[in-house]
Amino acid sequence: MASVIFTECSSSTMLRLNHLNRRNGSYLPRPCVSLRSTASGRGCTLSIRSSSPSAIVINGMAEAKKIRDDIKTEVSRMKESIGVVPGLAVILVGENEESATYVRNKKKACKSAGIQSFEVLLPEDSSEEEVLRSVSGFNDDPCVHGILVQLPLPSHMDEQNILNAVSIEKDVDGFHPLNIGRLAMRGGKPLFVPCTPKGCIELLHRYNIGIKGKRAVVIGRSNIVGMPAALLLQREDATVSIIHSKTKNPEEITREADILVSATGQPNMVRGSWIKPGAVVIDVGTKRVEDSSAPCGFRWAGDVCYEEACKVASAITPVPGGVGPMTIAMLLVNTLASAKKIHNFK
Ligand SMILES: NC(=O)c1ccc[n+]([C@@H]2O[C@H](COP(=O)([O-])OP(=O)(O)OC[C@H]3O[C@@H](n4cnc5c(N)ncnc54)[C@H](OP(=O)(O)O)[C@@H]3O)[C@@H](O)[C@H]2O)c1
Repeated sequence: MASVIFTECSSSTMLRLNHLNRRNGSYLPRPCVSLRSTASGRGCTLSIRSSSPSAIVINGMAEAKKIRDDIKTEVSRMKESIGVVPGLAVILVGENEESATYVRNKKKACKSAGIQSFEVLLPEDSSEEEVLRSVSGFNDDPCVHGILVQLPLPSHMDEQNILNAVSIEKDVDGFHPLNIGRLAMRGGKPLFVPCTPKGCIELLHRYNIGIKGKRAVVIGRSNIVGMPAALLLQREDATVSIIHSKTKNPEEITREADILVSATGQPNMVRGSWIKPGAVVIDVGTKRVEDSSAPCGFRWAGDVCYEEACKVASAITPVPGGVGPMTIAMLLVNTLASAKKIHNFK
């Protein structure tokens, strides 16, 4: 299989796997609560077929594993050839439980791929200067090839100022204004592309889902997911619409989408009736919701009412096990690419 590892930015134009097997053995998320009001205040009026689910499940977990395995091989080759081990530094400020979990998972993924990880943990009441000092230290550290400032930062800090301070050559999250600006410019060449949207596009490629000329709709316009996802889809020649919290009648727009990407964090907002039959649905949303029947008392919910969507869409990412694992895999891809570039290793 051709690998994304060797390609820049969005993703491979090389051979993709054809995974058109049903379900792919991935586990299914819980069904959505029926007849509940949606986050946008609209009721659930379904006009979908009652036949058994037919959507192909896009197995992000399996794809991410293949990517991580390829990275591990490349990391070993680099170490053996030039004695360099790629390094990723993470700066975490405060005790946000979800952020701490993300950072733990990133460290674990680095370790299993053979990438060195560095970490600075700062208390919630740290000053912006302290964070900037950590960024600057990692900018100058030759063992560090990628720097990630875990977002969100405490509200007393200027996020843009801090992201601006990350060396653009080590900006493996792709959030530096120059990288985002280049992503937005026609013909622009960002050094790195934000990992979550990059993972979404990679999944589409790996499942042979054509993007060119398609009508794509992105729900959400955040700097880290919605906006770059829309830009990436446009770069792949889709015709893109963006929906946000002030959009009127969003379901009228989503029903036109051949490819629907949702990144709002509003569980079950996208009902089956919002989806064009045969559309491909990428659910980025990941929200912790209480569930007394779950062993840990909670479960992860996506933006999309999975049970309904499965009956209408042609392919769909589950939550969990869809976009999430791809985000981390793309972070490793970007870190390896950065190390290779810095050391001119082919
Ligand atoms: N799987 C992963 O790897 C991964 C990575 C990152 C994020 N996520 C998840 O993705 C979700 C979005 O993350 P984010 O950082 O982009 O969140 P965010 O910064 O809160 O942005 C949410 C976006 O959704 C829009 N929105 C909220 N409610 C809406 C509604 N009812 N109708 C239409 N649009 C609505 C907001 O519109 P306005 O701009 O008008 O406020 C905003 O643009 C979260 O669940 C997050 O946990 C997952």
